[in-house]
Amino acid sequence: MRRKVFIALLATASLTYACQQGANKSETGETTNDSTEQTTFDTVIDGKDVKLYALQNEKLQVTLTNYGARLVSLHVKNKEGKETDVILGYDTADEFKQNASNYYGAIVGRYGNRIGNATFTLDGATYELEKNNGENSLHGGTNGVYNKVWTVEQSSDTAITLAYTSPDGEAGYPGTVTMKVTYSLTDGGLLIDYEGSTDKKTVLNLTNHAYFNLNGEGDATILDHELQIDADAITEVDETLIPTGKSLAVAGTAFDFRKPQTIGSRIDTDNEQLKVGQGYDHNFELVKGEGFRKVASVYAPKTGIEMQILTTEPGLQFYSGNFMTDSDPKGKGGKGYPFRSAFCLETQHFPDSPNQPSFPSTVLKPGEKYTSKTEYRFLVR
Ligand code: BGC
Repeated sequence: MRRKVFIALLATASLTYACQQGANKSETGETTNDSTEQTTFDTVIDGKDVKLYALQNEKLQVTLTNYGARLVSLHVKNKEGKETDVILGYDTADEFKQNASNYYGAIVGRYGNRIGNATFTLDGATYELEKNNGENSLHGGTNGVYNKVWTVEQSSDTAITLAYTSPDGEAGYPGTVTMKVTYSLTDGGLLIDYEGSTDKKTVLNLTNHAYFNLNGEGDATILDHELQIDADAITEVDETLIPTGKSLAVAGTAFDFRKPQTIGSRIDTDNEQLKVGQGYDHNFELVKGEGFRKVASVYAPKTGIEMQILTTEPGLQFYSGNFMTDSDPKGKGGKGYPFRSAFCLETQHFPDSPNQPSFPSTVLKPGEKYTSKTEYRFLVR
């Protein structure tokens, strides 16, 4: 059944893409009545066309939408050869819009993660951001890039480039920032390339906010997943999840994932940091390696699916779905996504870096190029 729906989605997305390439046929609406799936993503948000796109090779099938440059589904084969969608989401663009503040599958920013007291200074000027998470700013505020319609610059069966230009002052951030995100399929993986530039000194920290469940989206838990992260320390946070400026060694704590451990084995232990996050919701300070390197892996014994993460970034936010609840709006196919039924591993610079001079810098100056690269690579064992 899930396979059938995916095939319909894929066919729809390819059709939409094909029509978009040729003479703007999709604008006329003439392709909108082939299947329910097609119309559910073929819409207009903020006066801009929103569509569903598909990427496919022998190993991976991905759909995404230009609303928030967002992953909608990611199918890989499990150990029995059955297609498994490992990403949470919705069946319609409207539902993604209505529930934008859970960031499903989206590119978040301009500053992914939190900025303390929703303010920072740069060259003596103070910038005020939106307080959308208590007193803090999270993922760029409600006017963040995850809530914008991006332009598709180019697409093929295996790659798509989406672009968004954020005007000077948007969501409180200085500078006109031009961003590009390219999703491309590799042999067994999904590579995400980020690029950005600015006309005024600013800060930029983009990441993808996919929620994964390697048992398949809609499965009740991720606590059985075995996680490994190459990090000797986490960034300590206060009760509002803002860094204190200190690093905490993971050795001998529930945060030690240097060797694979199930997510659930220590999540409820008596630990101050787990209490403030209500579980894992922390930046792991990745062991410094050169450039693009493997930093983490997750394995689900039930399906045999393993996901490896490779990145150029210095940090990885591990969020264990602690704020998900049984009463959250239903996801794809009406499935519930309860407490800790997904995890996020967001490659990034550290939270609140603009206010923490000792953290790796997130400042972007005119003439510089922002680049970042992350791959989610899948295997079955
Ligand atoms: C944050 C969580 C937050 C979640 C929202 C994560 O990146 O670390 O605290 O609840 O995003 O989806």
